[in-house]
Amino acid sequence: MERFVIEGPVTLSGSVRPSGSKNTALPLICAALLAPGKSVLRNVPRLRDTNTIVRLLETLGAECEFEGNTLHIDATDIPNREAPYDLVKTMRASIYVLGPLLGRFGDARVSEPGGCAWGPRPVDLHKMGMERLGAEIELDHGYIDAKAPGGRLKGGEVNFKIVSVGATINVLMGAVLAEGTTVLRNVAREPDVVFVVDGLKKMGAKIEGAGTHTITIEGVEGLEPMNMAVPPDRIEVGTFLAAAPITRGRVRVEDCIPEHQYALIELLRQGGLEIEQGDDWIEVDGASGMRSIEAITAPFPGFPTDLQAQIMAACTMADGVSTVTETIYLDRFTHVAELRRMGAKVRLDGNVAVVTGVERLQGAPVMATDLRASAALILAACGAEGTTHLSRIYHIDRGYEKIEDRMCALGAVITREQEPD
Ligand code: EPZ
Repeated sequence: MERFVIEGPVTLSGSVRPSGSKNTALPLICAALLAPGKSVLRNVPRLRDTNTIVRLLETLGAECEFEGNTLHIDATDIPNREAPYDLVKTMRASIYVLGPLLGRFGDARVSEPGGCAWGPRPVDLHKMGMERLGAEIELDHGYIDAKAPGGRLKGGEVNFKIVSVGATINVLMGAVLAEGTTVLRNVAREPDVVFVVDGLKKMGAKIEGAGTHTITIEGVEGLEPMNMAVPPDRIEVGTFLAAAPITRGRVRVEDCIPEHQYALIELLRQGGLEIEQGDDWIEVDGASGMRSIEAITAPFPGFPTDLQAQIMAACTMADGVSTVTETIYLDRFTHVAELRRMGAKVRLDGNVAVVTGVERLQGAPVMATDLRASAALILAACGAEGTTHLSRIYHIDRGYEKIEDRMCALGAVITREQEPD
């Protein structure tokens, strides 16, 4: 396995560009299954996760080929409609093939995803939504066995009891070819949903209401392949912006969508930081360090849970006592033990982390536990005194394309090496 060796403290300053959004690319790649023919997706990030979803589509029979960050998908023939356990267990987002396979073919067999480091992460809302569209679903030896009677889903009403990005997108993709009208209520309003709807509409789907609490879909008889660019990764953007207060640098993120960052910008302003923005860029001046803040994660447009670990890293060296409240997941605090090893003062009280700022963290051997926690530990290590060994960086490679290159361009001192035996 590989690890990062990170020297600190450094000041991260300069301009950086985000790659394409992982959490938009994954469902868009699966949406290509809805139409026979050749789809083209541009600005697809080259990650473990995008490689996994491409392998899954190829297992189903699609022909896929990357040309740099452009992905060509020919989904004309999809003879196999089973998503195998050995692929799904490595990435929960594989569940995104359920909607397209059910929508286009009326049948699908997808391994039930496992849990993750912060809890069970069920897919009951995905299954409930498909059932409201007429699907008959059974759990068969760990597989979700789904069939549409008569071979086609029927429009229906779906009221989500909680806001779910994945369930919203998956049921959407099932509904676009269903017979009749579907109304989805209490849906996710994340940009990922809005961009996936853009892609589906480019394929000929009839969808209204993306970005609001209710989405209406008029089922159509067939769809055309899509040709679309993946938008910039809003979580990467937030990760780079959080580097400014942690290392007291001035960081400018170009080619981004500032409207996606308002919740983070509000928190950084609460922490006393100077922020400027333009049509497609945001700049944070972290020279003065950050005062304490109160962060609470929430569905979009609230503060994203995927930036919770990163903002906590900023709180560890802020002036005063901050609170970070996680409302989306049961226990998304696996990064706390690692930050404590670096000298952070964090007390957990249920889903609230109380963080007392210290002058400076110390470099230490730490372990990546999940994708976003890993990014937070890189940032913390850049602001810490001394050397940090960050192990299990395969977590990082799942969701950030060549992160060390871009961090080093901002002034980080990171080398990737094999972990000693
Ligand atoms: C997406 O996961 C993202 N993943 C996650 O990012 C992100 O943390 C999450 O949305 C929340 O924003 C992708 O887009 C690939 P949810 P998803 O359904 O869709 C519960 C990353 O780092 N729930 O919005 O799985 C669930 O347990 C990843 O890129 C059910 O109870 O999240 C959670 O508590 C990590 N039943 C809440 O809803 C269900 O059927 C929100 O989860 C589905 C979800």
